[in-house]
Amino acid sequence: MRKPRFLVILTVLTLLAIALAGCSNQTQEEKKSDALLLGFSQLGSESGWRIGNTKSVQEAAEAAGVRLMLENANQSQEKQLTALRSFIAYRVDVIAFSPIVQEGWDNVLREAKEAGIPVIIEDRTIDTDDETLYAVHVGSDFYSEGVMAGEYLLKKLSTLPPETTLNVVELTGTQGSSPMLLRSAGFRDTVAAEPRIRILDSVSGDFMISKGKECVRAMLEKYGAEFQVLFSHNDAMMYGALDAFGEYGLTSGKDVIVISVDGEQRAIDLLKEGKVNCVVECTPMLGEAIMQIARDLKDGKPVEREIYSSERAFTEFDDLSRLAPRGY
Ligand code: AHR
Repeated sequence: MRKPRFLVILTVLTLLAIALAGCSNQTQEEKKSDALLLGFSQLGSESGWRIGNTKSVQEAAEAAGVRLMLENANQSQEKQLTALRSFIAYRVDVIAFSPIVQEGWDNVLREAKEAGIPVIIEDRTIDTDDETLYAVHVGSDFYSEGVMAGEYLLKKLSTLPPETTLNVVELTGTQGSSPMLLRSAGFRDTVAAEPRIRILDSVSGDFMISKGKECVRAMLEKYGAEFQVLFSHNDAMMYGALDAFGEYGLTSGKDVIVISVDGEQRAIDLLKEGKVNCVVECTPMLGEAIMQIARDLKDGKPVEREIYSSERAFTEFDDLSRLAPRGY
């Protein structure tokens, strides 16, 4: 028996619809595997800043439709090297990483170059003689951050009686890391010509709250009332330091002048309360920039070699009443 004509047409249309649906599913799949694959090696989770930086990269990848392979090295350069080698073996499109220290990256970067994988250095910088080993650095100008901290202290000194001298304890970040080396250099260069500012000591608190507290306790034991200014290389260590000052019955912001770097919301709140005197901004919000650069690199477009975030200092002399929430 012959099928009615309309049934034949209906069957053909249904088959066509199924085929088209199949095609469009396939296109979605293809699209997914075409999406840029970014290997990102984060150095750790030592501070609120770092956690904000990881979140910024994750959220920006999601928004940009970038497939992200994220590895956290928990403060170990060895683990970062392993992560970078795994990205190379996996043949990701682009690698980004925040190097825990400046030295020791040339070999792995040469391997990435040989594999034809472009590299973005994010946040911290590396020390290399071969500039062709990476495509872009995007992050903060750590030297300028040290300069801003020094400039604040010079301004503070100018408000105090002329015979005042100020003894500074510097609480540095991870030894051999670029923010540690450059913040220190910027600060020292800025206050060097002022004989009334003296750097009493410099100790590393590894950018962590607990170590910041331990170091400041030790410095208070050693120098007592001679310890008049704290220059902490990040907010996390400064929070630990404030606990230590409290234990010694000292009022931070008054008995001890406190300068910090990062600009986390908690640090800005402490500045508004008068417990901190100056916070130099260092933004962790680098995710969007990384995604844009990664896309340009994949498409073979020219990219700027050095991209610095625009940053400022927040001080006790500023009106901070209209400052937007920091977001980290
Ligand atoms: O490299 C940036 C520094 O690393 C931030 O100042 C600090 O908080 C982080 O751990």
